[in-house]
Amino acid sequence: MREPLLSAVNITKRFGTFAANDAIDLDIYGTETHALLGENGAGKSTLVKIIYGLLQPTSGELRFMGRKVELAGPAAARALGIGMVFQHFSLFENLTVAENVALGLSTGEPFNAMSKRLADLSHDYGLPLEPAREVWRLSVGERQRIEIVRALMQNPKLLILDEPTSVLTPQECDQLFVTLRRLKNEGRAILYISHKLDEVKALCETATILRGGKKISTCDPRLETAASLARMMVGADIGEVRAAAGRKTGIPRFVIRDPHPRSGRPARGAARRHLARGQGRRDRRQSPASPATARTSCSPPCRANGNRPGPTTSSSTATQSGTCRSTTVGVVAPRSCRRSGSVTAPHRA
Ligand SMILES: Nc1ncnc2c1ncn2[C@@H]1O[C@H](COP(=O)(O)OP(=O)(O)OP(=O)(O)O)[C@@H](O)[C@H]1O
Ligand SMILES: [Mg+2]
Repeated sequence: MREPLLSAVNITKRFGTFAANDAIDLDIYGTETHALLGENGAGKSTLVKIIYGLLQPTSGELRFMGRKVELAGPAAARALGIGMVFQHFSLFENLTVAENVALGLSTGEPFNAMSKRLADLSHDYGLPLEPAREVWRLSVGERQRIEIVRALMQNPKLLILDEPTSVLTPQECDQLFVTLRRLKNEGRAILYISHKLDEVKALCETATILRGGKKISTCDPRLETAASLARMMVGADIGEVRAAAGRKTGIPRFVIRDPHPRSGRPARGAARRHLARGQGRRDRRQSPASPATARTSCSPPCRANGNRPGPTTSSSTATQSGTCRSTTVGVVAPRSCRRSGSVTAPHRA
């Protein structure tokens, strides 16, 4: 029988009396793209931090290639061949791409050689990076590339990605999937956390579902529907969320005004007062894409540093520059979902 690359056996992690992970078993095989699914707070990040040596389990053990391992920290995990791309980036904004990568590498190679390898490898995997560029100049997608390339530079056998697409544009997501498929073809295992069930069905051949810190099931997500996966995650049927017919939205409770609307000029005078009084909402209800729509830009950039996504009652779209342009309206489906018809797992704002 095929031996798992990594096994988490009966892993429990308590924070005080709270069990974030409760007796979880997980097997990941080489060349497998394995999804880890669950609602917010289900315990996904806690489990992968244990696998990466960032957290110590309260009880249970990890086995890597059949051998019990105790990971004193991420360096020990990296030495085994485990790499991780975090949900929240850990980059120094004022340092360059190469300096950030150097800080996270344990290879000890000379800086110039490492910079050259970084540029070559990033281009080779279709995630191009300029080593000398400062991080504060980069978009969210480019920042994530640094994290991915940094992990790839250690030639991992297992790459863990914690919600990698939540900060990416659709084009950046497509490029990431090309890279992930290539990594799988190279014989690497991928542990992939995502709330986007259509992505999981397209990418992964195994999925483990957590709920309330417990493992609920391991299945082949390609044989499931988005609804059946969501049901396992939540423990109940998920109804379709839509605005009640004819329902009037009230006065906006939270409005962010765009300092740089489409005209390129800051909103001012009458336009500002118009928005401030909420008068634009009638127009917005009629057509979210109408010129009268209050286009807004989140500052700091939405999810730029792994912030939570905006409330489901606003439509938002990540742009190439990493900012989130959202429209404050009543209850509407996120525009990205309406356009692509994608299904997103339940995600509490
Ligand atoms: N250091 C900590 N101290 C106390 N509680 C924690 C700690 N880290 C996580 N938790 C709690 O453990 C539970 C699981 O958190 P975790 O981050 O693993 O969830 P998750 O499945 O990754 O959720 P999300 O989808 O929101 O990222 C949550 O209730 C969280 O508040
Ligand atoms: Mg998490």
